[in-house]
Amino acid sequence: MTDIFTELFGSDAEELYLLDCMSYIMLFMAGATFLTLLFENVPYGRYASSKYGFPVNVKFAWFVQELPAFVVPLYLVLGTSAAQSSQLPNRLIIAMYFCHYVQRSLIYPFLIRGGKSTPFFSFALAFVFCVYNGYMQIRHLSHFAEYPADWVTHPFFISGAVLWFVGFLINVHSDHILRNLRKPGETGYKIPVGGLFEYISGANFLGEIVEWSGFALAAHSIQSAAFAIFTLIVLSSRAVAHHRWYLEKFEDYPKSRKALIPFVY
Ligand SMILES: NC(=O)c1ccc[n+]([C@@H]2O[C@H](COP(=O)([O-])OP(=O)(O)OC[C@H]3O[C@@H](n4cnc5c(N)ncnc54)[C@H](OP(=O)(O)O)[C@@H]3O)[C@@H](O)[C@H]2O)c1
Repeated sequence: MTDIFTELFGSDAEELYLLDCMSYIMLFMAGATFLTLLFENVPYGRYASSKYGFPVNVKFAWFVQELPAFVVPLYLVLGTSAAQSSQLPNRLIIAMYFCHYVQRSLIYPFLIRGGKSTPFFSFALAFVFCVYNGYMQIRHLSHFAEYPADWVTHPFFISGAVLWFVGFLINVHSDHILRNLRKPGETGYKIPVGGLFEYISGANFLGEIVEWSGFALAAHSIQSAAFAIFTLIVLSSRAVAHHRWYLEKFEDYPKSRKALIPFVY
């Protein structure tokens, strides 16, 4: 694999430059997405619309669109001979990434109950994003990122790892609550109850935001920061949109419930 990358990029320095450029492009896209989301919701799930292409079966869409986020990094990790890939900090941070994407790409899609079909445009965009981000995160961590030997005892790593873990648990638990609102065969919406949903409408989104923020703190790179910021922008907007949607749809929606941050927002 080293040969492929040497042929593609010429040298490690050039590939690292590319990885940095990709992070700045993601930050730029996050800004553009923020502006777009002021006028339109990301078109999938309850906001799916036929103007964004033909419908793709929801389980197939989630499985195929998320799979590159697992397969591309797996190929990178198995193929690299760089010393970074055997360092403890790199390994632990890579493990956090894989823990999330094994769940998201190989388990989550098959547990979905009655989800709306995904418009082709949203599906294709998610697929491209997973290839892009999978390469950007794991190529950097497995081949370039250098940490001091005692990084795993550094407060940034420890607090990042704790945040990542808490966010992961909140995300998985909240997705579990949502899916169990529907009995097999049902497709409608109900008021979520339990867990952090008692306080906010976007509990699953808060979990994911906390998770990738913790990851960014532990990984301490422009690559991980760009992904955490992108996630924050996309999912905070979705949490606010869902909150408004619930308030319009359900007269008895709990008035004290906030959109994303308990008691605050
Ligand atoms: N890192 C990122 O940038 C990123 C981006 C997007 C998503 N994600 C993650 O991917 C996961 C799914 O995201 P999502 O946007 O699809 O979440 P969502 O809109 O909350 O929907 C999740 C699932 O639960 C169902 N559902 C939601 N609310 C329901 C209710 N009140 N009653 C019954 N069923 C309900 C949905 O069905 P319908 O399909 O019928 O609405 C869907 O199958 C989340 O964990 C999210 O954090 C991450």
